[in-house]
Amino acid sequence: MLPLVQLEVLPPCSQASFAFSSIESALSIIINNLGQLTGLAAETDRLDALLQALTQEHDEVAHQGSDSTLAQLYCSPGGQQPSAPHAARITRHVKAEQEGLLLRQLSVAVPGSTRLICSKLDLQLSPGESLLVVGPSGCGKSSLLRALAGLWREGSGSIHLPAATFFLPQKPFMALGSLRHNLLFPAEVPETPSHSTSSVTSIGFSPASSKAVAGAGSGSIKHRTHAAPSNMEMTHKGVVTPGSASPGSDHDESLPLLSRSDTLSKAGQASPTATRIHVLPGSGSVSLWQDADSHGPGNGAGASPGDAELLRLLGAMRMEGVADKVGGLDATRDWTHELSSGEQQRVAFVRLLLNCPHLAFLDEATSALDQESEAIMYKLLRASRIDCFVS
Ligand SMILES: Nc1ncnc2c1ncn2[C@@H]1O[C@H](COP(=O)(O)OP(=O)(O)OP(=O)(O)O)[C@@H](O)[C@H]1O
Ligand SMILES: [Mg+2]
Repeated sequence: MLPLVQLEVLPPCSQASFAFSSIESALSIIINNLGQLTGLAAETDRLDALLQALTQEHDEVAHQGSDSTLAQLYCSPGGQQPSAPHAARITRHVKAEQEGLLLRQLSVAVPGSTRLICSKLDLQLSPGESLLVVGPSGCGKSSLLRALAGLWREGSGSIHLPAATFFLPQKPFMALGSLRHNLLFPAEVPETPSHSTSSVTSIGFSPASSKAVAGAGSGSIKHRTHAAPSNMEMTHKGVVTPGSASPGSDHDESLPLLSRSDTLSKAGQASPTATRIHVLPGSGSVSLWQDADSHGPGNGAGASPGDAELLRLLGAMRMEGVADKVGGLDATRDWTHELSSGEQQRVAFVRLLLNCPHLAFLDEATSALDQESEAIMYKLLRASRIDCFVS
């Protein structure tokens, strides 16, 4: 800027022009950075919303206290539909000693709406049993899984689950860092990588024999017992919905959960979704883990696996060459772009197997895989020591 003395000697029109350009350049800072400023405001808003949600969640957990809050906290009259979005909440009871998954009168609302995905669902999943949720696109499979995993709370009823749970989304999170870091995620990479001998042993099975989930019918919830006889088309265990059979009853209906879609229809949401529960075949004798102490259910915090174990798991995932291709387990890349969607899903499966939780939620976690690879993933899953999974 010109000194004041010089300004005074300028003719008035020049002074005006100079003043105008000064104001213009000052204002253009805002205009030129409007995009960034808007982004900053949006990020601040999102962080604020996250903070509020976390605070609310924390308050609710503190408020719920013990198991005595099994009663639905905000259940709307009749329990069919929440009276308004966000009026009802699903209660969760997470206990280290909880075995399997227990749902009591679970109703889940579609995000941002009062439409129900399921109504008054009662289900008990014991260790060794798993649940397969199948249905047309948009019917609410992901929302149901998110609700079960505790990521979505709109609805009513209660969910009882063990502390050691693991959620595998369709598009897994790829962390910044090495391949090893991504395989071990969310565990930290140890400062001195261990090169211990592997605790993973035989992954000896025939992919062709793995068709536990292939060809699943549409609109169904399938209930798998690992130790069940190998009959794909399946007997069922009941699920209690209003007016239907109790879990484990000998009710001989082939579509025991049709009452659930009835419920959807009653809620004014006619849905093509027919829901079923089936018992799927057992896992056979495939053994993934040799040393029971190395990796067990909920034992993700155990000794960090060494190179041999990680490479063997990658091999089991049919990704033998990946580590070599990128320059070893400690190579750092932009994994979202370096790995295909299917490879990212297989990396996520390695995480799951290494964490070996009591209960795993898989939301179309093999959607990018071919049928044979998908069968391998599920075979590995069933061979692992993960108690139950919901997929
Ligand atoms: N975050 C959200 N906000 C608002 N509505 C949502 C949200 N997520 C899902 N929905 C709606 O909830 C309904 C169920 O969606 P969901 O993703 O659970 O279906 P889906 O069965 O998993 O479908 P797909 O097989 O295509 O993955 C859809 O109508 C969808 O538009
Ligand atoms: Mg989905």
